[in-house]
Amino acid sequence: MSWQSLREWGQDLERRGDLKVIDEPVSPEYEIAAYVKKSCEVSGPAFRFTNVEGHDMDVHAGFFAAKRRILEAIGGETKQEAEEALVGATSNRIEPNIVDDGPVREVIDTDPSLNEIPIVTHNEKDVGPYITSGVQVANLPHTGVRGQGIYRQLVTGEKELSLWSPEERRVGYAYRVNAEEGKPTEMAIVIGASPSVIFGSIANVSHEIDKYEVAGALQGEPVDLVPGETIDVDVPANAEIVIETLIHGDEKNPEAPFGEYPGIYSETNENTPRVEVTGIMRREDAIYDTVLTGLPPNEDGMMNWIPRCASVRASATQAVPNVNQVDVKIGEAGGNGVFQARVSIDKRLDGDPWNVIASVLGGRSQAKYCMVVDEDIDLDTEAQVDWAWETRVQPQRDVYSFPTMTGAPLDPSGPKRQSQKMGIDATIPLDEDPELYEPTRVPGKEDVEW
Ligand SMILES: Cc1cc2nc3c(=O)[nH]c(=O)nc-3n(C[C@H](O)[C@H](O)[C@H](O)COP(=O)(O)O)c2cc1C
Repeated sequence: MSWQSLREWGQDLERRGDLKVIDEPVSPEYEIAAYVKKSCEVSGPAFRFTNVEGHDMDVHAGFFAAKRRILEAIGGETKQEAEEALVGATSNRIEPNIVDDGPVREVIDTDPSLNEIPIVTHNEKDVGPYITSGVQVANLPHTGVRGQGIYRQLVTGEKELSLWSPEERRVGYAYRVNAEEGKPTEMAIVIGASPSVIFGSIANVSHEIDKYEVAGALQGEPVDLVPGETIDVDVPANAEIVIETLIHGDEKNPEAPFGEYPGIYSETNENTPRVEVTGIMRREDAIYDTVLTGLPPNEDGMMNWIPRCASVRASATQAVPNVNQVDVKIGEAGGNGVFQARVSIDKRLDGDPWNVIASVLGGRSQAKYCMVVDEDIDLDTEAQVDWAWETRVQPQRDVYSFPTMTGAPLDPSGPKRQSQKMGIDATIPLDEDPELYEPTRVPGKEDVEW
């Protein structure tokens, strides 16, 4: 199934009872986020809010609050199918189509105000309202292709935003290069694009690749693009809203505190750039959408789940040939979608788990912990993972702490960008009698009903 816009997916979810329409008045400050937080905790529905205080525009929220919707958005019945779809899309890409017109150009405002958009404040100590669901697009000076990613943006005025996009990011790199030459960077903020465009934009591919091509492969047909109005940036024709901006990389506009995916507040960034809004294009009845970050379970960890699983698998399979399942812990049972990697293998050599652990912890996934289990353990069943490391691990023999390595940027417990890491080998030693580890079983359980 492929949807051309978030709206289309929302209509489909509503038909299937997985999107609730909330007609009661809600405030964009905390109240919308509160619905989403609760939904994340119970793998609940997505929402459309039709009565947002102070605004005529509806708001979509909570689309990524449950694993089942992540799988269908990427296109897979199972985690492994979704992983394969995402990885396949990065190599079998489909170029986008340029068209003259599309729904997102129904209303064009060249004297825009961000006040017209119900931008949401999520966590208690967030410094203000943040755009968290925008796919930002800029033409990259260093590779000559379009560059996309999702980067948080604080609203700092009617026509002004900040942007957190570090130097290794596409857009972060682009605006720094342009600023060195005294030039601003044109950037579109795309709201309400198709799930394929959203997941394409967080695919882990080199800066040489236009992620609209990954999105095309995910949806099985080219993404239709229309030109921007005040900037020369192509944007998805079926999006809800496009905010057109100039990033002034040589002017500072601090941002944060902001509740981030590990569940803590990011401290203030003094060095983030000023972003000037030059235009807004939107549908006549545009629907804004927002994504909840903060204490897990949250939506951005959930969105990162499959891309991270794909990175973990890439590292693990580089180390050994016998990888079965992979997972990164996220969801109702806890986990922030980044720090805890799990891999199951058909172990043939006693050193295999350590090859996997070294490769995953040193790889691109930013995992802080990696546990390896035997392939009889189902990584999708938390109780089985617990059972494996309760019964198959002797800490002095099977747990190893690595000294400081480069780590995830938002871990409050280590020096910036650095982290000690830990591996756990929860596999049965090959020279031991497997019967010692045989799980007990109650015959006939499968046949009981009441
Ligand atoms: C909801 C959500 C919010 C995100 N916010 C940020 C952010 O504020 N800054 C950032 O650097 N990455 C953020 N990310 C991660 C990047 O969007 C993601 O890693 C993307 O692949 C970056 O692309 P790039 O490295 O090609 O620039 C976010 C991801 C999601 C799903």
